[in-house]
Amino acid sequence: MTSTDLAALRPRLPSPLQEIEDDRFSRRGVRLSLKRDDLIHPDLVGNKWRKLAPNLAAAAGRPILTFGGAYSNHLRATAAAGRLLGLPTIGVVRGDELADRPLNPSLARCTADGMRLRFIDRSTYRRKTERSVLEGVLRAAGAEDAYVVPEGGSNTLAVRGCQALGEELRGQADVIAAACGTGGTFAGLTAGLAPGQRALGIPVLKGGFLTAEIERLQREAFEGRRGDWTLDDRFHFGGYARTTPELDAFAEDFEGRHGVGVERLYVAKLLYGLVALAEEGAFTTGSRLVAVITGAPFPC
Ligand SMILES: Cc1ncc(COP(=O)(O)O)c(C=O)c1O
Repeated sequence: MTSTDLAALRPRLPSPLQEIEDDRFSRRGVRLSLKRDDLIHPDLVGNKWRKLAPNLAAAAGRPILTFGGAYSNHLRATAAAGRLLGLPTIGVVRGDELADRPLNPSLARCTADGMRLRFIDRSTYRRKTERSVLEGVLRAAGAEDAYVVPEGGSNTLAVRGCQALGEELRGQADVIAAACGTGGTFAGLTAGLAPGQRALGIPVLKGGFLTAEIERLQREAFEGRRGDWTLDDRFHFGGYARTTPELDAFAEDFEGRHGVGVERLYVAKLLYGLVALAEEGAFTTGSRLVAVITGAPFPC
């Protein structure tokens, strides 16, 4: 796999920056733009391109083995990359009980794209980064030579790949906001911004552990904390994949207002958080705010 093979997939980079008119921001004097990373590539959507591309190059044609939950955007993107680039892919899925059930649409898409799925029990899954457990997983999959990408795709190469997202936003915004899962996208994005730009992360998981994790990812990728950033932990709606009728209604309303599909696990919580923060007066009058659209709804 070379960067030429990846370039042949014609990613739309830099991704478009789209200013939108939304009275919930404009009445506070805030200009809102969407950084349309969801338009980078129809199959490697949003942060998936930025995180996977450097890993696909590093895999150099070896099979890719990675991890995810039953609805993982990352597993789908890895499977699609395998199809597009002719690479074998293996997806290790959390929950051995899923092996006996019909595949959900997300996992069915993975297998349609040629990914081989392996289901493992939740307690082994939790220990998947331990060397002996990982070796067992690779052996059981018959893939000892595979290139391993961690859950969510957030390794050092991925974090460095997301630095380009921040660099594309230099001079374009005062505050840049993005949803965080593992924190890899945000760790890279914030490192790419210019001095004076501020980043705001909205974690979609409950727990409050992410500041330390993002600092760790930045230390590994850049040898220290980078950028001016904070997290706001109030908009996880109970945790990963949790939602409420209010959040669903918000996302539908946003789609109706702006004609942009709102991915529900991450982007909906980001946009909801930004509206709430604007109402609290968290953004100064005259500021330019960018929301990073890190994904698209599935099924599209
Ligand atoms: C659509 C979308 N947005 C945001 C994220 C969060 O990315 P990260 O895990 O790098 O924090 C993910 C997960 O990869 C995602 O699928």
